[in-house]
Amino acid sequence: MTNIDLPIGVFDSGFGGLTVLRSLVEQLPNEDFIYLGDTARAPYGPRSIAEVRRFALEGLDHLHQRGVKALVIACNSASSAVLRDARERYDVPITEVVLPAASRAVAATRNGRVGVIATQSTVNSRSYEDAFAIAPDITLTPQACPRFVEFVEAGITGGDELLGVAEEYLEPIKKAHVDTLILGCTHYPLLQGMIGYVLGTGVTLVSSAETCAQSTYSQLTQAGLLHHEPREATRTFLTTGDARDFQGIGRRLLGGFVTDATTVVLDPGNDTLNRR
Ligand code: DGL
Repeated sequence: MTNIDLPIGVFDSGFGGLTVLRSLVEQLPNEDFIYLGDTARAPYGPRSIAEVRRFALEGLDHLHQRGVKALVIACNSASSAVLRDARERYDVPITEVVLPAASRAVAATRNGRVGVIATQSTVNSRSYEDAFAIAPDITLTPQACPRFVEFVEAGITGGDELLGVAEEYLEPIKKAHVDTLILGCTHYPLLQGMIGYVLGTGVTLVSSAETCAQSTYSQLTQAGLLHHEPREATRTFLTTGDARDFQGIGRRLLGGFVTDATTVVLDPGNDTLNRR
């Protein structure tokens, strides 16, 4: 198998990365994808950065060992914890969700006030602050929205309870008068309706899922690794948790898109930077 025929590995803490996979399939329809969700240890959002880093490298090592032509870190918490290490560790192109979303927001903002909503772990890592170092004139307002993940996984994307929580979380974003908001968590594209409803149409929402897919397209095009002709593409789903649960929740979130899932056990591996 030549490099170009290998699948693209997509890693997430659980189900939410399926929003990134959906964008990838839309933008790269002729590619094979192998998706790994670490559902047994999700959510990553409340965990320490060191723990997220260890888990994410185990997942990425697993995908890399299976043979992939590129790795996509679909999870914002994982991207925030391992970005620099991952680039050094693997010999294939790596894309992630933080930097492409930050670049899009820099291009989109008109008043120089940008917000980012994310998990606690992503906010604690200050990864978006680092990404915005390229644009020192922009004021960034980060806000953790931990309960959003619960709502999405329960299939709730509207209603009074969610509205109350969204109004509370988004209050500091409104007060900061941002005109651009990054949805810095895999689950939030599924709450775009509610977030847009609370903030109004004057705020541009940047989906880190969409910008990640665009960045993957660009990197693979530059590396000469994209299929341009129509072909029968495959999607493989791996989970560290229960395969039937994965399929059930995956289908509830993203419809028939999720097919059979297989349970895998991740190697604790070694946490060194010698994989090249
Ligand atoms: N995938 C995570 C992220 O994008 C959200 C879910 C979790 O906390 O594991 O940060």
